[in-house]
Amino acid sequence: MSKQVTVSAPGKLMLFGEHAVVYGKPCIVTAVDQRLKLIVEKLDEPFFELEAKDVGILGYKKPLSEVGKGEIPKGAKFVEIALSNFLKKMDPAFRRDDVGGGVKIKTVSQFKSTFGFGSSSASTICTLKALSEIYNILIPKKEFFEIAYKTVLDVQGLGSGFDLAAAIYGGTLFFVTGGKMIEPLKIKDLPLIVGFTGVKADTATIVKDVKKRFEHYPKQLKNIYDGIGLIVEEAKIALSKNDLEKTGRLMNLNQGYLEALGVSSEKLSSMVYAARMSGAYGAKLSGAGGGDCMVALAPPTKNKAVEKAIEKAGGQVLKVKVNAEGVRLER
Ligand code: MEV
Repeated sequence: MSKQVTVSAPGKLMLFGEHAVVYGKPCIVTAVDQRLKLIVEKLDEPFFELEAKDVGILGYKKPLSEVGKGEIPKGAKFVEIALSNFLKKMDPAFRRDDVGGGVKIKTVSQFKSTFGFGSSSASTICTLKALSEIYNILIPKKEFFEIAYKTVLDVQGLGSGFDLAAAIYGGTLFFVTGGKMIEPLKIKDLPLIVGFTGVKADTATIVKDVKKRFEHYPKQLKNIYDGIGLIVEEAKIALSKNDLEKTGRLMNLNQGYLEALGVSSEKLSSMVYAARMSGAYGAKLSGAGGGDCMVALAPPTKNKAVEKAIEKAGGQVLKVKVNAEGVRLER
């Protein structure tokens, strides 16, 4: 059994289907090549220690018996609850004999937690992967997803889990809420241009706002979700044929529905329009909305012009590649 293990998981970008996926529709998500790294070390004393500088956690320490209990700082929640769920999942004999000591966890991210690339989901997945490696317990991918999804629901009470699937499986996935379907899609690398608004989106609040709107206008919002679901199905085919023009048109349609849901923002919409007007096939927000990132698809000849236009609209262009590898052990 090793004393220290390092793992890493990719960030993600939602390509199609955000929000509707919370209501049982499919979405398409891709893993990006910016990764979160996590180092877990076994301790002789029965403590849990955490260093997660990117989310403001330094020198956090508590007895292992207190893990998952009491007041937990925001930046420590996903790692601590993932550890707690891992321990609960294991049988008592294992806990007594093997985790008798404690664990020290450190996370380091290549991307800022404000980008909306899914630092919480990547750290949840890395925690579970590192623990399974250090204690030599094989967790099948589906069960792995279930422990991670329980962790997310324990922490924030909502979410489809699409970001966890991207961190586990990598690549580009056709995903249905709660992991009912996780289908890897064989797609070519997309010439995606990513623009960061500079604003951190509060996903939980936006999802709750949309839920309230759904309670007021159930029929209308159901139609929107149905429409988004159809776009996702079409996009799956367009992507598999590498039909970028059609994929772009579908992105524009999807953005229209997101505007109707009320989750875009002035900044996001300006960046989306700037990209379209400078030659992109299509553009849309990516994720919960309100901030975070937008994505555009453009022919290579228009790439520079689209990047410039996004910057002129106040965005920061982020260089990322799609289809990145899922969670892995780092040697
Ligand atoms: C947030 O990145 C995407 C949402 O669809 C929420 C979720 O699927 O968990 C809005």
